[in-house]
Amino acid sequence: MTTAKDLQPLYAEMRQWRQHLHQFPETAFEETQTAEFIAEKLTNFGLDVHQGLGKTGVVATLSAGNSNKKIALRADMDALFIQEQNTFSYASRHDGKMHACGHDGHSAMLLGAASYLSENRHFNGTVYFIFQPAEEGRAGAKQMIDDGLFDKFPADCVFGMHNFPDIPVGHFAVKSGAMMASSDSFEITITGKATHAAIPHLGCDPILVAAQLINALQTIVSRNIDPADCAVLSITQIHAGNTWNAIPESVVLRGTFRSFNKNVKTLIVHRMTQLVNSICTAFDVGVNIQFNPENEGYPVTFNTEAETAIALRAAQAVVGGSCVNEKPTPSMGAEDFSFMLQEKPGCYIWIGNGSSENSCLLHNPHYDFNDEILPVGAAYWVKLVDIMLNQTSP
Ligand code: NI
Repeated sequence: MTTAKDLQPLYAEMRQWRQHLHQFPETAFEETQTAEFIAEKLTNFGLDVHQGLGKTGVVATLSAGNSNKKIALRADMDALFIQEQNTFSYASRHDGKMHACGHDGHSAMLLGAASYLSENRHFNGTVYFIFQPAEEGRAGAKQMIDDGLFDKFPADCVFGMHNFPDIPVGHFAVKSGAMMASSDSFEITITGKATHAAIPHLGCDPILVAAQLINALQTIVSRNIDPADCAVLSITQIHAGNTWNAIPESVVLRGTFRSFNKNVKTLIVHRMTQLVNSICTAFDVGVNIQFNPENEGYPVTFNTEAETAIALRAAQAVVGGSCVNEKPTPSMGAEDFSFMLQEKPGCYIWIGNGSSENSCLLHNPHYDFNDEILPVGAAYWVKLVDIMLNQTSP
């Protein structure tokens, strides 16, 4: 049986890789040094390495035996545009960029598993190790798929893992069905008529209309969505005006909405369009509403039943049944692994990054992946391969 102990000999190396990646964070589709670092390690382990899918994506293949079964394991490599506030020795050396979501750890854990499996080929089939770019808002997973990921590497199923700050070290959480929400963004541009602030009757005030819209949009979740369904709509930006005594010509509102099913998403789009157009008509201003103006939005991260049962078995084998939460509350966050789950059956699991009073949330300038969990995550990957590719390890 594979446990974190079996991966312990790789701990020092995984920690070194993780801290190296943390020091040199790269953001969406610019992960060139990161990809080189990862590809070089994989090549040294003796894997077949392919680069360039999704610009900077790396895929490595490891086969043993003669079975046709193929399993894909995925980690993300990208960092965020956040100025790191940590002062430890391996803090980011790239100004304004930081691994604040633990993708440095995800890459190190998958590298650890690749290293272990290359030396312990007790499985029958093929493992694809996917290191993807641009998870943070730029849909790197989709880019890799569009570039032929699953044509070149025809996996039967695909598995993902993300660290989670509120879950204790040595614990996992996973369930079938929706694990994370779909995410869509929107931009509303209201165009009125600029005027002196003291003579509003000669203009048409878009700020006043924006206020009506913001209130009205909040009725969609509270009055239109079935209370038994989950959804959230947040306005996150308001841009207008630059002085005290002039009413500006236009206002731009931006925001996001999340849900766990397509019908809810369709209803939100429909009601937003209706409210925005009718309110702007009533106030005699022009309006333009755009959904997902900068990207395509992320679908729901939906775990298939059979693959979730296997993920559960693997996690339980590594940390024990009592340390695996089988009924986690799904997150309203979104994840572009959802695009891979639209193509292949699979499962996305959360690994505990440790919860203490001092621990902070993902995307926080003080965040740091917890190196203690590197052998736990790597052992999960190894056990998953073991179960999926039908061999019982010694
Ligand atoms: Ni992340």
